[in-house]
Amino acid sequence: MQKPIFLSCFLFFFFVYFIPRQSFSCPQDHREFLLEFKKLLTHNIKNHSTQIALGELKTWRPNSDCCKWKLVRCNTRSPSKEVTDLNLNGLVLFGSVSSTLLRPVLRVSSLMRLDVSSNFIQGEIPGDGFGNLTRLISLDMGRNSFNGTIPPDLFSIKTLQHLDLSMNAIGGTLSGDIKELKNLEELFLDENLIGGEIPPEIVNKARNNIQMNFMSFKIPYGIGSLVNLSTLSMSRNNFSGGIPSSIQNLTNLETLELENNSGLSGEIPTWLFHLQKLRKLRLGGNKLQWNKNGSIFPQSKLTHLSLSSCGLEGKIPDWLKNQTDLYFLDLSLNRLEGSFPKWLADLKMENIILSDNRLSGRIPNTVGETSLMILKLSENNFSGSVPKSIANIYRLLWLDLSKNKLSGEFPR
Ligand SMILES: *[C@@H]1O[C@H](CO)[C@@H](O)[C@H](O)[C@H]1NC(C)=O
Ligand SMILES: *[C@@H]1O[C@H](CO)[C@@H](O)[C@H](O)[C@H]1NC(C)=O
Ligand SMILES: *[C@@H]1O[C@H](CO)[C@@H](O)[C@H](O)[C@H]1NC(C)=O
Ligand SMILES: *[C@@H]1O[C@H](CO)[C@@H](O)[C@H](O)[C@H]1NC(C)=O
Ligand SMILES: *[C@@H]1O[C@H](CO)[C@@H](O)[C@H](O)[C@H]1NC(C)=O
Ligand SMILES: *[C@@H]1O[C@H](CO)[C@@H](O)[C@H](O)[C@H]1NC(C)=O
Ligand SMILES: *[C@@H]1O[C@H](CO)[C@@H](O)[C@H](O)[C@H]1NC(C)=O
Ligand SMILES: *[C@@H]1O[C@H](CO)[C@@H](O)[C@H](O)[C@H]1NC(C)=O
Ligand SMILES: *[C@@H]1O[C@H](CO)[C@@H](O)[C@H](O)[C@H]1NC(C)=O
Ligand SMILES: *[C@@H]1O[C@H](CO)[C@@H](O)[C@H](O)[C@H]1NC(C)=O
Repeated sequence: MQKPIFLSCFLFFFFVYFIPRQSFSCPQDHREFLLEFKKLLTHNIKNHSTQIALGELKTWRPNSDCCKWKLVRCNTRSPSKEVTDLNLNGLVLFGSVSSTLLRPVLRVSSLMRLDVSSNFIQGEIPGDGFGNLTRLISLDMGRNSFNGTIPPDLFSIKTLQHLDLSMNAIGGTLSGDIKELKNLEELFLDENLIGGEIPPEIVNKARNNIQMNFMSFKIPYGIGSLVNLSTLSMSRNNFSGGIPSSIQNLTNLETLELENNSGLSGEIPTWLFHLQKLRKLRLGGNKLQWNKNGSIFPQSKLTHLSLSSCGLEGKIPDWLKNQTDLYFLDLSLNRLEGSFPKWLADLKMENIILSDNRLSGRIPNTVGETSLMILKLSENNFSGSVPKSIANIYRLLWLDLSKNKLSGEFPR
C-alpha cells in the first residue's frame, strides 16, 4: 500500500511542480514582444549608416527564458515571472532608428523601469502605447531625437516617479496634464523645444526639494543634424545656454534668428559669418558676448544684421564694408566708439540703428544721399549741427537723434 501512495505523491509533485517549472520562464507574449523589438532594431543594420551594439542582444534567443537574457529583469517572486525592467540604453551607436521600433516594447504591460536613452531614435514618441503601462515607475527616453509633442497618454501613468525626456527635439507646450503624474519625483525636459508656462503644481513640487530641470531650455545640439534647414527662427523663446557649435553644420542656413531670448549667453562664434548662404542674422537682446579676439572675414552677404546688446567695443566693425547687400543694421546698446563712418552712409541701407553707444563726431552729410527709412542715433555723443541734407531722405519714417551733443538749428 505504501508504494503506490509514494508513487502517486511523486507523480503529483512531478506534474504540479516539475512540469510547470519547465515552462517557468517569462510570459511567452513578453518574449515575443522583445524578439520583435530586436528584429526591428537589427533590421537597421542593413542600413550601413546605422550601427547597433549587438553583444548583449545575442542572449535574446527565440526558445529561451527571456528572464535570463541580458538587459532584461523579471519579477522572480511572482509565479508568472513578468518582465519588469528593460535597460535598452545606448544600443544604437551611430545613425538613426525610427521611434516605431518602441511599439512592441510598450506592450510589455508589466514594465516598471524602461530605459531607451541614447539610441538615436527619430520621430514622434508612439502616442498610444503608454495606456497599458500601469506599473511604470521610471521612464528614460533622453538623448534621442524624438520630435512632436509629449503624448497625453504618457500623463496617464500615475505610478511614474522618474521621467527623462531631455535632449530631444520635443516641442509644444508643457501640458497642464503633467500634474496627473502625482508620484513624479524627477522630471528632465531640458534641451528640448518645449516652451510655455510651467504649471503651478510643478512649481509647488519643486519647492519640496524635488529635482527638476526644465528651467533651462537650451537650443538642442541635435539641431545640427537638420542639414537642410534654411530658416532657424527662435527669437522670443526662453532659451538659455550658448549657440550650439553644431549649427556650423547647417550650411544651407539663410536665416538665423535668436533675438530676445532671456538667457542665451556665451561668445558669438566667428564661424557664424562663414555660413555662406546666411542673409539674416539676428542675435540682439540676449546675454551674448562679442568675441574680442576673433577677426571676421565674412563669407556671407548679409541683408539683415542685429547685434544689439552684444558687448561690441571699439569702432563700428569695418568688415561690414564688405556687406554690400546689407539694408538692416542694428548695433544699438553696445560700447561702440569713434565716428559714424562715411562708408556706412554709402551702403544702400534702409535701417541704421546705432542708439545707446559712445559714438562721437559729426553725422556725415552723405546720409542725405541714402534711402534710409529708419535712422536712430540717440544716446550717443554726436556733436556739431544736424546735416541739412537729412531733409533729402525722402523715404525717412523714423528719425531719432535725441540725447546727443548736437547743436545749431534743426533743418526746417
Ligand atoms: C535606411 O534605408 C532606407 C532604405 O534602404 C532609407 O530610405 C533610409 O533613408 C535609410 N536611413 C538612414 C538613416 O540612412
Ligand atoms: C519627426 O521626425 C520625422 C523623421 O525625422 C519626420 O518624418 C516627422 O515629420 C517629424 N515630425 C514633426 C512633428 O516634426
Ligand atoms: C492594451 O491592452 C489591451 C488588453 O490587453 C490591448 O487590447 C491593447 O491593444 C493594448 N494597447 C496597446 C496600445 O498596446
Ligand atoms: C523663462 O525662464 C525664466 C527662468 O529662466 C522663468 O522665470 C520664466 O517664467 C520663463 N518664461 C516663460 C514664458 O516660460
Ligand atoms: C556635423 O558635421 C560633422 C562632420 O561633417 C559631423 O561629424 C558631426 O556629427 C555633425 N554634427 C551634427 C550635430 O550633426
Ligand atoms: C536634403 O535635401 C536633399 C535635396 O533635396 C536631399 O537629397 C537630402 O536627402 C536631404 N537631406 C536630409 C537629411 O533631409
Ligand atoms: C527684441 O526686443 C527689442 C527691444 O524690446 C525690440 O525692438 C525688437 O523688435 C525685438 N525683436 C524681436 C524679434 O522680438
Ligand atoms: C582672447 O585673448 C586673451 C588674451 O590674449 C585670452 O586670454 C583669451 O582666452 C582669448 N579668448 C578667446 C575666446 O580666444
Ligand atoms: C568680402 O566678401 C567676399 C564674399 O562676398 C569674401 O570672399 C571676402 O573674403 C571678403 N573680404 C573680406 C576682407 O572680408
Ligand atoms: C563726448 O565728447 C566730448 C567732446 O566732444 C568729450 O569731451 C566727452 O568725453 C565725450 N563723452 C563720452 C561719454 O564719450
